[in-house]
Amino acid sequence: MAQLNNGVAANITQKQPLWLLAEVTYRCPLHCAFCYNPTDYDKHTKNELTTEQWINALRDARKMGAIQLGISGGEPLLRDDIEEIVAEAHKLGYYSNLITSGVGLTEKRIQAFKEGGLDHIQLSMHDITEEINNFITNTKTFELKKKVAAMIKGHGYPMVLNVVIHRYNIGHVDKILEMAEALGADYVELANTQYYGWSLVNRSQLMPTREQLAEAERMTNAFRERVGNKMKVFFVVPDYFAERPKKCMNGWGEVFMIVTANGDVLPCHSARSLPGLTFPNVRENGLEWAWKESPAFNKYRGMDWLKEPCRSCDEKEKDLGGCRCQAYLLSGDAEAADPVCTKSPHRHLIDAAIKDSENPLLREQPIIFRTDKNSKKYAEGDRERVDQFHSLP
Ligand code: FES
Repeated sequence: MAQLNNGVAANITQKQPLWLLAEVTYRCPLHCAFCYNPTDYDKHTKNELTTEQWINALRDARKMGAIQLGISGGEPLLRDDIEEIVAEAHKLGYYSNLITSGVGLTEKRIQAFKEGGLDHIQLSMHDITEEINNFITNTKTFELKKKVAAMIKGHGYPMVLNVVIHRYNIGHVDKILEMAEALGADYVELANTQYYGWSLVNRSQLMPTREQLAEAERMTNAFRERVGNKMKVFFVVPDYFAERPKKCMNGWGEVFMIVTANGDVLPCHSARSLPGLTFPNVRENGLEWAWKESPAFNKYRGMDWLKEPCRSCDEKEKDLGGCRCQAYLLSGDAEAADPVCTKSPHRHLIDAAIKDSENPLLREQPIIFRTDKNSKKYAEGDRERVDQFHSLP
């Protein structure tokens, strides 16, 4: 048994929640069209966990072996107890990462994070142009983000930028990387949009064409060649353009555990979109029971549940059938092979989406931004824009 910080035992075995993601709030000052938060988040905003409940959850997960902590939202800085949560996480021995839009980060707060032992701050950036930044987030945050980037650097944190890539900014990848270089970034993640939550609702507007994607990859490689090791650039390929699915979350209930703003315990961000599953909640269940015993965490763990064509596939150990949420959101069957796979009987749904990316009429539909008003509509059962993905030929 390995002994980590502060005497908290970390017996690293399989199926321990090594990563804990604390989605501390769904409130957010930004209204990003590609947000992966649930479209019906509005129904989970009324009863956020208290500081004490978060600290208890951190403590319980740490006892189970969790060592990486992500603090995200919504915008986590909308809570005024993040300093306290960060300091407690440090005492417990977590490596902690604050995932933020930068809105609400002040000199005073970053100083407190530094003193409390926060290890890492990941800042989201959106484009090199004020116009696209403000359009896609539906806010005026362009200048603020640059100031926050300088503040993060000034406090000795590694500069980690996350840029979600979509049709509106994919042509600027070279300039985005130059901007990151000028800001002194150490790591940049170019995260091509994956289609869940709000980004699925806006898929026709956000999805780039195959050619745009290939060009963005070329620009990224040219930049990498020029800067060498000075800056690490990750280019996350959207799985729609792959032939095999990803091993989503590194396997359902294998290493990731998410606790949401209202205390639900999930194996992945979108799990509540799946039918017939009741997820544990830290107000009623211990995290250990949630992880080890709850029917929801065991439902898609391992490979016993796999149907054909995955069951007899010689690649099943690599991807475990792919993403359950994507399978359900597109095919209507949560146990189906991820439609991304070319062996899936539903692959035509992905090919149709790629074809749609070239259809200017679909792109002209208005974007539905992540706002409380729109979320209320989805929470009340509005299926507009969602059902169309199930009814593709
Ligand atoms: Fe839920 Fe992939 S996002 S399994």
